[in-house]
Amino acid sequence: MISKLEELRRQALSELDSVENPESLENWRIRYLGRKSELTQILRGLASLPIEERRKTGAAANELRVFLETSLAAREEAVREIEIARSIKEGRLDVTLPGRPVSIARLHPTTQMLRQISDIFTSMGFEVVEGPEVEWEYYNFEALNIPQDHPARDMWATLWMDYTDSDGRHPMLLRTHTSPMQIRVMESRQPPVRVIVPGKVYRYEATDATHESMFYQIEGFAVDTNITLADLKGTLFEFARRLFGKERKMRFRCDYFPFVEPGVEMAVDCFQCSGAGCQLCSETGWIEILGAGMVHPEVLSRVGYDPDVYTGFAFGLGLERMLMLKYGIEDIRLFYSNDLRFLKQF
Ligand code: PHE
Repeated sequence: MISKLEELRRQALSELDSVENPESLENWRIRYLGRKSELTQILRGLASLPIEERRKTGAAANELRVFLETSLAAREEAVREIEIARSIKEGRLDVTLPGRPVSIARLHPTTQMLRQISDIFTSMGFEVVEGPEVEWEYYNFEALNIPQDHPARDMWATLWMDYTDSDGRHPMLLRTHTSPMQIRVMESRQPPVRVIVPGKVYRYEATDATHESMFYQIEGFAVDTNITLADLKGTLFEFARRLFGKERKMRFRCDYFPFVEPGVEMAVDCFQCSGAGCQLCSETGWIEILGAGMVHPEVLSRVGYDPDVYTGFAFGLGLERMLMLKYGIEDIRLFYSNDLRFLKQF
C-alpha cells in the first residue's frame, strides 16, 4: 500500500509539472484529489484494514493528501502567471487601462486627536510618557491620597483584577485614570518635570451616550519651584484655545480630587445648544472636559519631593470628550463600534 502511495505521488507530481492552463489543472485535481480518485478510495478503505496497517497507511495517505493540496495551490499560482504572460503576448490584456482604486487606510479619530493634543503640549515643553494599564492599587489610589476604605474611592467605578494578596485583598486593577503615572514619573526623576501621559483607562460602567467602560485620558503635570494656579490656568486656556478656537467659552471652577489642593474642573460651552441648556449638557449649558488642581503636598512628600520647595499642577482630560466637542458627536459609543461609515468621516 505504501509503495502504491509513493507511485501515486510520483505520477501526480510529474503530471502537475506540465499543467499550463486552468482546465487541465481542474482535471488534475479531479484525478488525484477528487471523490473518485485513488487516494480518496484508499482513505475510505482504511477502516477495513488491520489496526497496524491502518495506522501506517492512514498517516502516509493523509500526508500525501496535504502534499498534493499544497502542490496544487502552488501550481495554481504558476498557471495564473503563465496565463497573464500569454494574454499580454496575444494582446488581450491592456495594461494601459486604469487600475482598480486601492482604498487607503486612515488613523482612528482617537489617534488623530491624541496626536494633535500631544503636539500642543510638546510645543509648550511637555514630554510624552506612557504607563501600564493594569496598575497596583497603591499607584491608582493609595499614593494619590485615597486610602483603603476612603469614600473617595467611590468616585471611580473600579474593575479589580482577580488576584489576591496574602491579606485577601485585590491589589491590582485596570487603572481608572492616568493619574497613577504622576507617582511613577515623580518617583523616578527629580524636578523640574513637565510630562503628559496619554492612555486607556477603564471603569466599571453601564455605557450610555457619554460613558464608555474603556476610554482615553491624557494626564499632564508640571512640578518645579514657583509653579502656581495661574500657570495651570494659563496652560489649560492656551491649550483649549488652540484646540477649539478662540470663540469657545471656557469655565474654570472649584472641584474636589483627593490628590490636588485646590482642585478645579474646566468646562466648555455645550456644542449642541451653545450654552442654552439641552439634554446633552444636562440643561447646564456646559460640558466638563477635565479635572485639575495643584498637586497635593502629601503626594509630593510621598515621592520624596520637598513640598516647601516644590509646587506643581496636574490635570486629566477625557480624549473622546474633546472629539465630541470639536466635531459635535453625540454618542461616545460610536468611537469603538467599528462602523466604517462613522470612521471614514475623519
Ligand atoms: N484623575 C482624575 C479623573 O480621572 C482627573 C484629574 C487629574 C484631576 C489630575 C485632578 C488632577 O477624574
